[in-house]
Amino acid sequence: CGIVGYVGAQSAQDVVVAGLKRLEYRGYDSAGVAVLADGGLAAAKKAGKLLNLEKELKDRPLPAGNAGIGHTRWATHGGPTDSNAHPHLDNAGRVAVVHNGIIENFASLREELAGRGHDLTSETDTEVVAHLLAEAYSSGGDLADGMRQVCRRLEGAFTLVAVHADEPDTVVGARRNSPLVVGVGEGEMFLASDVSAFIAHTRSAVELGQDQVVELRREGVTVTGFDGRPADVREYHVDWDASAAEKGGYASFMLKEIADQPKAVADTLLGRIDGSGTLHLDEVRIAQTALREVDKVVVIACGTAFHAGMIAKYAIEHWTRLPCETELASEFRYRDPILDQRTLVVAISQSGETMDTLMAVRHAREQGAKVLAICNTNGSTIPRESDAVLYTHAGPEVAVASTKAFLTQLVACYLVALYLGQVRGTKWGDEIRTVVRQLSEMSGAVERVLGTMEPVRELARSLATHDTVLFVGRHVGYPVAMEGALKLKELAYMHAEGFAAGELKHGPIALIEEGLPVVVIVPSPRGRSVLHDKIVSNIQEIRARGARTVVIAEEGDEEVVPYADHLIRIPATPTLLQPLVATVPLQVFACELATARGNEVDQPRNLAKSVTVE
Ligand code: G6P
Repeated sequence: CGIVGYVGAQSAQDVVVAGLKRLEYRGYDSAGVAVLADGGLAAAKKAGKLLNLEKELKDRPLPAGNAGIGHTRWATHGGPTDSNAHPHLDNAGRVAVVHNGIIENFASLREELAGRGHDLTSETDTEVVAHLLAEAYSSGGDLADGMRQVCRRLEGAFTLVAVHADEPDTVVGARRNSPLVVGVGEGEMFLASDVSAFIAHTRSAVELGQDQVVELRREGVTVTGFDGRPADVREYHVDWDASAAEKGGYASFMLKEIADQPKAVADTLLGRIDGSGTLHLDEVRIAQTALREVDKVVVIACGTAFHAGMIAKYAIEHWTRLPCETELASEFRYRDPILDQRTLVVAISQSGETMDTLMAVRHAREQGAKVLAICNTNGSTIPRESDAVLYTHAGPEVAVASTKAFLTQLVACYLVALYLGQVRGTKWGDEIRTVVRQLSEMSGAVERVLGTMEPVRELARSLATHDTVLFVGRHVGYPVAMEGALKLKELAYMHAEGFAAGELKHGPIALIEEGLPVVVIVPSPRGRSVLHDKIVSNIQEIRARGARTVVIAEEGDEEVVPYADHLIRIPATPTLLQPLVATVPLQVFACELATARGNEVDQPRNLAKSVTVE
């Protein structure tokens, strides 16, 4: 979910709604706003996208006020209805609360409140907070005191922002787990899940720490722990370009982000490779002696980042000869994995806020493992809780389905693998230097693929009425196939599956029928040609059963031509680096197909860009 708070001289409703617009990527099941005005509190909330709330506010504007809060929701407890939308109010309508996370002990708190005569009307866990706050406030102290008191009673993950009608110039926030940032303006203060919500007003920010409460007034902020002890307030400058978060002339953020990929790849390599093919990753603050002692690598991530992690396994094992496992973060923590001081855990997350990944990071550190985060969001929770971080420099990614962040995650994974190889001095020293140089040429290769996408778009449009598309690949082409299928599910809402090509004959081949589109990612015929031979046989097996084959193959690979109903060419690259170019046509394919089916690509149904619940 995305949350916003404001106090200052401007119209709170306008500032809050504009902020929510920037945060819609965090969820868009419903939205709401509350403002303090005329000695009271007024609120509006609507199921569905922010647009619905904006319409409602146009028809029935709230009274003008200078302090307010807002929320854009990704539903957890209770469906996406008007009444479950935030803010939630107490019975007297004096307190309003917005919340991100899950309050795990809400059922017992609810019962307790009902026992004291409170009438709880929604199905959400958040409502209990409004009631508890109202009680705490009425028993003395100010709103910040009340918030601290309430937070001490809550279990689970929560970030809260609240206002009280009796304190018309105050907004109070509390943070456990999911992020909350203060924007410091001149005579006005902002509070939001991330800086994009207030960057149009100020670039001075204060990151709230774990278990802290902040009180915002026009002239300043006070930060304390949940226990009331004063906390340090460290202001920093946000060096984000606000225009980077705009569409820049493209029909969607996704199209812009796909087009941004050559730059994102180049930016992620910038300053990390020298002319001799040596890597400089001084920012990875784990001592080289410790890296030499590592005896196992575990990569954890979710969604698209998990696919980057699957590719990391091939690279890490090949270049470092260290055993490497890749696991879904949500599974990892709960199966009692074997970790110790010599395990390096690599946690990949675009947002740095994904709760599944964060929990896995915490578990790994508790077991004594070293954690290296690969992350795109500066100062987010996962890097802050890790031993070291290697940032990807994709810039802000707004479209929910990840594209440029994925490519930069791949680059970062290669860098980590090559760096481990370099530090540990494996027998692949020369190969590592050569690959480092080849990696620095990949931005140009991505650019070239982007220039040849018209036939892919045409093909996508021609498949718009199909129900199923299968994707197959071998080696690093296998995770690419899974990513291609995920993109299609996310955007086109089609049944899509990615398989290891060799596994096809063990079951999935039964799915193939006349005319079924099957996308095949073909490895380079140079280098490990066995791999290539095997997939050529697989294409024939598929085609013999009537599938319509869409073959993604390197320029110059003539062997596949007779078996391809559609041929998509990608530049020749070393096998391990091929995902950087092979993924691009699949992104374009999914985006175009979704558009042809009338879907909105930036905000697919049911999804959120950053999922801050487990
Ligand atoms: C969500 C998004 C996915 C993303 C995943 C992991 O489910 O919809 O696109 O891949 O989270 O996100 P992260 O920020 O950790 O990379």
